Amino acid sequence: MSLTTVAQAAYLVAAVLFILSLAGLSKQETARRGNVLGMVGMGVALVATIVLSLKDSVRSPWVTALLIALVLVVGAVIGTWRARTVEMTQMPELIAMLHSFVGAAAVIIGYNSYLTEKAGGAHLVEVFLGVLIGAVTFTGSIIAFLKLSARIKSNPLTLPGRNLLNLGALVVSFALMGWFVAAPSIWPLAIMTVVALALGLHLVAAIGGGDMPVVVSMLNSYSGWAAAAAGFMLGNDLLIVTGSLVGSSGAILSYLMCKAMNRSFISVILGGFGAEGGKVSAAAVGGEHREVSAAEAAELLSSARSVIVTPGYGMAVAKAQYPVAELVTRLREKGVTVRFGVHPVAGRLPGHMNVLLAEAKVPYDIVLEMDEINDDFKDTDVVLVIGANDTVNPAALEDPGSPIAGMPVLHVWEAHQVIVFKRSMATGYAGVPNPLFYRENTAMLFGDAKTQVEAILAAL
Ligand code: TAP
Repeated sequence: MSLTTVAQAAYLVAAVLFILSLAGLSKQETARRGNVLGMVGMGVALVATIVLSLKDSVRSPWVTALLIALVLVVGAVIGTWRARTVEMTQMPELIAMLHSFVGAAAVIIGYNSYLTEKAGGAHLVEVFLGVLIGAVTFTGSIIAFLKLSARIKSNPLTLPGRNLLNLGALVVSFALMGWFVAAPSIWPLAIMTVVALALGLHLVAAIGGGDMPVVVSMLNSYSGWAAAAAGFMLGNDLLIVTGSLVGSSGAILSYLMCKAMNRSFISVILGGFGAEGGKVSAAAVGGEHREVSAAEAAELLSSARSVIVTPGYGMAVAKAQYPVAELVTRLREKGVTVRFGVHPVAGRLPGHMNVLLAEAKVPYDIVLEMDEINDDFKDTDVVLVIGANDTVNPAALEDPGSPIAGMPVLHVWEAHQVIVFKRSMATGYAGVPNPLFYRENTAMLFGDAKTQVEAILAAL
């Protein structure tokens, strides 16, 4: 059997492992196994790719081996360092940054492929589309990185005629593709690259705070298609399969998140098409708020029969999941029914809260999704809102002028008592004031969520 056949067989094995990995990742109980399968698949793919590139090397295989070893070491050192130092709260921005690398790689591969290979029609189209998708992914992901790490404002950029600008950029790009295929030269490719870089930048800049979750999964999808395009250019089947898997699973995730947030999928992928971004809340929010101490909260919890915890981004910031898990264990030991209500976009990345709660060993069967728990708030004694804000904001249902209007939220205010853990009256990610804080049955417990939950534990 030739080396190429063995490598192709290894690619097939890797592709199957990636599919099994995705299947595993779709459920909490099997997520670890999914991760392991993905890692094994990637290991197999790497070895096969290295073997193939040594075999097909135009230079001495030793030089190629040395170059590959060098990049592997540099990549592994940087990757290990980042993975060890990254905070859970920085994951979304890290992912956005990694997507931008995939985009940049597709652009570079496209140019390399055009400059080094004499190719005809179909290959030219592959190169052109690869560079186009890669460039949009590259700048779009950089803007997402800047927005997610709060280096730039998350408000939508609403240029006049922005939809026409996007449409114009696409029309110009396809006209340039006609030119590129009819009379191949670097010019149409270079002009399109500039247009596509601007398009990526503008598409993501036009999307506002509340819709950012969808942008992250959408860029995930784009990076998959960019990888698949690179696979076509390089004639690498595994890259085509893997890219398509990432591209389609990212698209499905974006669609599911749009549905969960009651947003139009088309509107979001077209850079906020039809959205009235930038509008401020029509209803004035204000009044008196009430505060409680940790000791008073402990007293309330002691006399409760049913409790729901709704975690949000602030729990991740405070790393409060461990004391929260301990509090839940203690309450359950006392016979209190305790469950978690997790909003689909709580935190900063899909499944963020589920990962944190799993980390703190909270049993899966008491972690419920928004739709499963929303009808139960009215029969609940105490709700603990731990660092959540936008995901428990009643303005989404009650104020049609609100930028988050129409987004389904957790109906925490229907419970008898709500205790909100946060450090101030500040707004959440979408920058929208929250009338929940001024309701009669709401009490604010100010301070760092971890410190305050520990204080409740001490007082119980
Ligand atoms: P947010 O609305 O972001 O609110 C988090 C709250 O946590 C803040 O109001 C903050 O108030 C509080 N907080 C921060 N640090 C804290 C600490 N150490 N201790 C206690 N509280 C702390 O949270 P959410 O309800 O989870 O909503 C998520 C938002 O992010 C949504 O708008 C969503 O669209 C957006 N988003 C989500 C994703 C994904 S995929 N999940 C991705 C991008 C964006 P103080 O400053 O007063 O403490």
